[in-house]
Order: sequence, then structure tokens, then C-alpha cells
Amino acid sequence: MEVPEKLRIVDMKPKIAHFREEIIQGLSRTPKQISPKFFYDRTGSELFDRITTLEEYYPTRKERMIIRDNIGEICSLFQKGSALVEYGSGGSVKTMEILDHCHGISTYVPLDISASQLEETAKKLSGKYPHLNILALCVDYTTRFEIPFLQLTGNIIALFLGSTIGNFEPEDASAFLWNVMDMLGPDDGVIIGVDLKKDPSILEAAYNDSQGVTAMFNLNLINRINSEFGTSLQTSGFSHVAFYNRKMGRIEMHLEVLQDMEVVLDGKTIKFNRGELIHTENSYKYDPEEFEEIANRNHLSLEKLWKDPDGYFGLFFLRRI
Ligand code: AVJ
Repeated sequence: MEVPEKLRIVDMKPKIAHFREEIIQGLSRTPKQISPKFFYDRTGSELFDRITTLEEYYPTRKERMIIRDNIGEICSLFQKGSALVEYGSGGSVKTMEILDHCHGISTYVPLDISASQLEETAKKLSGKYPHLNILALCVDYTTRFEIPFLQLTGNIIALFLGSTIGNFEPEDASAFLWNVMDMLGPDDGVIIGVDLKKDPSILEAAYNDSQGVTAMFNLNLINRINSEFGTSLQTSGFSHVAFYNRKMGRIEMHLEVLQDMEVVLDGKTIKFNRGELIHTENSYKYDPEEFEEIANRNHLSLEKLWKDPDGYFGLFFLRRI
């Protein structure tokens, strides 16, 4: 199919993670660890989509509600002929609420590391919004990169949803904010979705759902290792563990080893000891003041904080100081 003129897809060739090397490295450390970016193979992405529909997993629902309830104010941030630049656009589901209502937007710039999902989403949106210029950039947005020059009459509003920023270590979240600040001009701004600190029992329920979907999502890493290395580790040899680490302000996910075992990965023997934990994810939670402080350190000021009525989730609007 011919790519319409209003749609441009630019592959900035992000360095694709070397799954096998990184897995061997992470499993050779003490304590063992696997990066959460490896959750998202096809099955993992489907399981994550299921997570977002779970009763206990409030972030997606709350964020969508906050956008919907404040759509008028959100639209007022966009000048006529402005651009919406979205970090980690994924399926762009929540973004459609913004594109449907905010008519100042003339250009949509989705940024994603996954070329296939980016292309699929960009094509879908160009069909749904024929007047929109779409510039889809396949890029690792945690590195420094330049957005190609956008011919705009209006401003730029960046968007980073889903509390994905919670997956970054706080110093990486800070570095990310610095990079975003650096591309903003005085009329521009950034909207960021952040999961807020709250009663740990609510946090822990969100990562230990009653249907066991999050457990399957975590255990899918074992299946992925098997399919990429041709090994036959049993998921029944591991169990899903998720808890709130109050001192660090984060949910931690681990896979607990239930029995001693060994596996050979590309010639390297990895020993698992019963009771051992493999660290698979951190999901940081912030108090509003805490997040504002990190923003301020990176020359961003908090102009608006939208929250849901329970105060579970925050949508921060920041401008360059
Ligand atoms: C996609 C990183 C925002 O931390 O809540 C959901 C990932 N892990 N359930 C999160 C996740 C387990 C999610 N983020």
C-alpha cells in the first residue's frame, strides 16, 4: 500500500536490545535481574493489554478518566497549528480522546521504539484523522535525538502517558525530563502521567490481581527465555512476587525460584537456588511534591496537576522555566 503524503514514518534505527546477551548478563549477577523491557513480546503485550482492563489495575482507567474530565483545559494548551509529540505512543488509545477534541493540533508525532506497532498505529490514525500530519519516529526516546523540523504555526505539547516514567530509576526519570525540557520552547509544555503514592494495599492489589494476569505477564519471561534459547524451563518452577517497597517508593516485581535448577544458555550454565528472587521490574510511585521537585531541578515548572477524585493518579502539565 502507498503511504499517504500526510503520513511520514522515519526509522531512526534505535539500537535493538540484544535479548540473549542481556538475559545471560542479568542472570549472571547477584541478585539476578531481567529488564522489564523484555516483558513486551507479542504474548507479553497482549497480557499487558489485559492488565489494563483489570478491576485492580486502576492506572489506565484513572488516567483515561482524568483526560476525559479535563479535556477542555487540555485542549486549551494547544495553539492553532500545534504539534502533539507523544513519547511511547504504543496503541495511542488514550491519545485519540485528545485528537478527537483538540482541533488546534495539526501534527501528531508519535515516538516509539517498536517499529511494527508504530507503523500500525500511524496508519490507523492517518485513516481516522485524514487532515492530521503524522510524523512517526521510530526512536529510543531515552537517548538524545532530534525531532526533524516541524513546520508549525502553533506550539508543541509533549505527552508521556501510562506512568511509564515509573519504570525509570529516579535519576533516569530526571535525565528524561531534562531531555524533554531541552526540546521545549517558551510556548510549549509537557503532559506526564504519574502513578501517585497511596495506601500500599491498593498498590499491591494492582500488581497481584485476583485473575493472575500479572503473574502470567511476569512468568511469560520464562516462556520467552525458552523460545529464544530453545530451553525448557518450567514456569511452575517460579512464582510471581510483587510488593511495595516503602523505603524506595516503588512496586517491585520478582520471580521467586521454587526449586533448585540449572539451565545452559548459549553454553553458559546458570544455577537457580530455591528461594532466590529474580528482579523483573520496578514501578516508582511519586507524591505530587516529589515529582514537582524533580521537574523543578530540570528547569520545568508545574503549571497544572489534574488528579482523579481518589487522588490515585496524576497528570502533570509542566512548562520550561
Ligand atoms: C507499563 C510500566 C506503567 O508499572 O504499572 C503493570 C507495567 N507491570 N503491571 C506499571 C506493569 C505490572 C506498568 N507500566
